[in-house]
Parts: sequence; structure tokens; C-alpha cells
Amino acid sequence: MLHAEWKTSAHARARRSPLYVAMRDRSKNPVCEVCHAPLAGLTDPAELSVDEGVTCEACHAIRDVGDNAAEPQYTFDLQGNRKFGPYCDAKDNYFHKMGCAPAFRDARVCGGCHAFSMPLANGKSLPIITEFAEWRASSFGVSGTACQECHMPAETTHAATGTERKVRVAHHGFMGEKGEIVQKALGIVASAADHAGKLAVSVVLKNEGAGHAVPAGVPGRQVVVRVQALDEKGRAQAREERTIGRVLVDESGREVPFYAAIAEKRDERITPGETRTLAFELDAPRSGSVVIEVAWRSASPALAEALGVPAEERSMGKIEIPFGGQRTGKGREHLPKTVVARP
Ligand code: HEC
Ligand code: HEC
Ligand code: HEC
Ligand code: HEC
Repeated sequence: MLHAEWKTSAHARARRSPLYVAMRDRSKNPVCEVCHAPLAGLTDPAELSVDEGVTCEACHAIRDVGDNAAEPQYTFDLQGNRKFGPYCDAKDNYFHKMGCAPAFRDARVCGGCHAFSMPLANGKSLPIITEFAEWRASSFGVSGTACQECHMPAETTHAATGTERKVRVAHHGFMGEKGEIVQKALGIVASAADHAGKLAVSVVLKNEGAGHAVPAGVPGRQVVVRVQALDEKGRAQAREERTIGRVLVDESGREVPFYAAIAEKRDERITPGETRTLAFELDAPRSGSVVIEVAWRSASPALAEALGVPAEERSMGKIEIPFGGQRTGKGREHLPKTVVARP
């Protein structure tokens, strides 16, 4: 069952997700494999696990992670088929040969890969994967609430198929059963009011569920906020969209994949605990509804097009606020000063 959970995770696809393959092929940089296929080159290439990305073997071969460097460094131990894990009580495990690695209990075990910068020609470096650094600076890092608390919540299950013995195991899907963790990231509150003949919509986003900036991950990820005014038949009459993310650019100021970037143009991600208010003003019908959709997007449209890979979307929440018409018998000028709604 740990295996089935892991299979659904991006760790299992780390060497073959379409976005990764497109970027890896164009960057022609062998450094990618250090984290996306950590055992490539270290073990026999004929072994299946080498091609499977961030496998059980890869994580559980981490003997220690140095804590002094700005970016944590691993020590892999592939000797003697020992697997490392959080337990230092050798009886309570189902590895054949058990190694005790205290780093498994804290964020350092994630930090070795979830912290990455690229060297630039001017001698400086450009941060790329920033979750570990952001986490360390946040209240979660200060209180020692590790990545695992959110990404590997403990559940009680059978130790192995066919056994009655129950143990406490950490979920190995990393984004929840079906990726639903993405819906816990932002608290969303929306309000609408009539304003001088227009519909004024305010969307308040609070990063209350993530231990790092949102959207997390590789630069180019986006949070999309879409506001639409619909008439009573549900037809869109007006629409506006804003995106939140981090944009890296080349010499000409064009958004490019991180390996081709020379600078950060902007970073509008929402930091842990931060509240962001977005204001919209739409031409809207006298009656109908306003629909606010917040979605996670795997890559900005510019990057997706340049790489020839479709951008994926997942809902982070949706709010609908009806106004006027059958509900009140009046037009939207009779909308209360503000109508507040949550998903
Ligand atoms: C050996 C390197 C490595 C280690 C160790 C590692 N990760 Fe990852 N992780 C990756 C890579 C590479 C990806 C991106 C995979 C891809 O290409 O989509 C990733 C992706 C993820 C994702 C996105 C999952 C999804 O389904 O979208 C989460 C969440 C995550 N890691 C959390 C963690 C946590 C928590 C830890 C520590 C317990 C950890 N990782 C340890 C390399 C690693
Ligand atoms: C991205 C790194 C990573 C990958 C990949 C990974 N594990 Fe783990 N594993 C961990 C961490 C971290 C813990 C400790 C979690 C805790 O206790 O909070 C752990 C704990 C365990 C444990 C001890 C019981 C428990 O849950 O605490 C077992 C057994 C285990 N993993 C087996 C596997 C198997 C089998 C696979 C492949 C299907 C796998 N792991 C893949 C990081 C990983
Ligand atoms: C308080 C809970 C919490 C903690 C602590 C936390 N995360 Fe997350 N993480 C989230 C939520 C919620 C999301 C979904 C929102 C998003 O993708 O931005 C997420 C998303 C991610 C992603 C997905 C990025 C993507 O687009 O594929 C990665 C990778 C990740 N976290 C890694 C980490 C690592 C590494 C740590 C520890 C250094 C950590 N997280 C600590 C809650 C948490
Ligand atoms: C130090 C470790 C490390 C190195 C080196 C690294 N990555 Fe990653 N990469 C990660 C982690 C961790 C994630 C997970 C964050 C996320 O889910 O966006 C990730 C995510 C990605 C993603 C998003 C995957 C998806 O399926 O959406 C792409 C694409 C990517 N990396 C490309 C590359 C390329 C190309 C290189 C080499 C030029 C590279 N990476 C080098 C750690 C690394």
C-alpha cells in the first residue's frame, strides 16, 4: 500500500513527467538527474529502479543530510542493501536490514532535493527550488513542523498484506490521496458590491495551509484567479483573470524555463501566513451571478507553449455570489454593500 501511494506521486514520475522530459531534453544539463533520478549512475543501469525517478531505494538510501550548508547535502549509503528510515528501534520495521537515520524525522531529508540554485555567468546564483529555504524562515520552520506533517500524515494500517499487526505509517502520496492538499493551501473569501454602475469584486487569499510560498515548486507554476459575471441564463457577460507566480526571464526580458534564465523579473507568490487582496471591476448585467474560481496551474501559458507541453489545472476553490433578479426581484444595484462568501 505504501507502494500504491508512492505510485500516484510526482516522485514516481520524476524522470518521465512530460514537463520534465521537455525541459531536460532542451537544457542538456546532466545535473537534473541528481534529484530526478538520484540512483542513475550510482547503481547498475540494468536495475529497473534507476529509471523510476525518486524511488523507495533513493530516499531510503539517504544515510545522513548535512545541516550546515545553505543547501543541504546528502550522503547516500548503497552498501550492503541497508535501508535507512526514521526508526532506531530495529525490531519495529519491515526492512530486511535497517539503518537508523534521524534526518527522516525532520525536514532535512526533503531539503537535499527541495533546495536548488543555478549558477549564473556573473558569479551569482539564481534560486530555483525554494521550498526548504522558505519553510526554514517561516513559523513552521521555527516551530519545527516538518514537511512530513503536511505531506506524509501518519495513518494506522496493516504492517503488510495479510498481517493483523497494525503500525503507524506515513502516507507516501505526498499530495494527499488524490492531490487534494492543493485545496488546503489558500483560505478564500470573496465579496461583491455595486460600485458606480459596475460590479466591484474583491477576492482575499490567505496562505493558511502551506509551509512555504504558494504556488510552490518549479518557477512557472501559477495560481489563477478567474472572475466571471454571468447573466441569469449562465452566459458569461464579463471576465477577468489574474495570475500569481514567479517569473524568470532571459536577456530580452522574456519568460523562459529556469535553466535559460538570467534573472527574476517578479515574484508575486503568497508567503506563509500572508493575506493578499485582489480587486476586480466588471461590466455586469443587472442580475445574475459572479463566479470566482481559483486554480493551480502546472506551468504558465508562455512556458507551456514554448515547451510544447499542455498546462494542467487543479481547482483550489470556487465561489458563486448571486445578485438581483429572481432572488431579490431587483437589479444588482440592490446588492447589499458587500456579500461575503467562502468556498
Ligand atoms: C532524492 C530527491 C528528493 C527527495 C529526498 C525528496 N524529494 Fe520531493 N520531489 C523530488 C523531485 C525531483 C520532484 C519533482 C518530480 C517531478 O518531476 O514532477 C519532487 C516532487 C515533490 C512533490 C510534488 C508532488 C506531486 O505529486 O505533485 C512534493 C509534495 C514533494 N516532492 C515533497 C517531498 C517531501 C515532503 C520530501 C521529504 C520527506 C521529499 N519530497 C523528498 C525530489 C525529492
Ligand atoms: C521522497 C522520499 C521517500 C520516498 C520516495 C519513499 N519514502 Fe518511505 N519514508 C520517507 C520518510 C521521510 C519517512 C519517515 C516519515 C515519518 O515518519 O514522518 C519514510 C518512512 C517509511 C517507512 C517506515 C514507516 C513509516 O511510514 O514511518 C517505510 C516502511 C517506508 N518509508 C517504505 C517506503 C517504500 C516501500 C517506498 C517506495 C514505495 C518509500 N518508502 C518511498 C521518505 C520516502
Ligand atoms: C503546513 C503544511 C505544509 C508544510 C509544513 C509544507 N508544505 Fe509543501 N505544500 C503544502 C500545500 C497546502 C501545498 C499545495 C499548494 C501549492 O502547491 O503551492 C504544498 C505544495 C508543495 C509542493 C508542490 C509543488 C508543485 O507544484 O508540484 C512541494 C514540492 C512541496 N509542497 C514541498 C514541501 C517541502 C519540501 C516542505 C518542507 C521543507 C513542505 N512542502 C512543507 C503544505 C505544506
Ligand atoms: C537539487 C535537486 C534538483 C535538481 C538538480 C533539479 N531539480 Fe527539477 N525539481 C526538483 C524538485 C524538488 C522539484 C519539485 C518541485 C515541483 O514539484 O515543482 C522539481 C521539479 C521540476 C519540474 C516540475 C515537474 C513537473 O512534472 O511538473 C521540472 C520540469 C524540473 N524540475 C526540471 C528540472 C530540470 C530540467 C533540471 C536540470 C536542468 C532540474 N529540474 C534539476 C529538484 C531538482
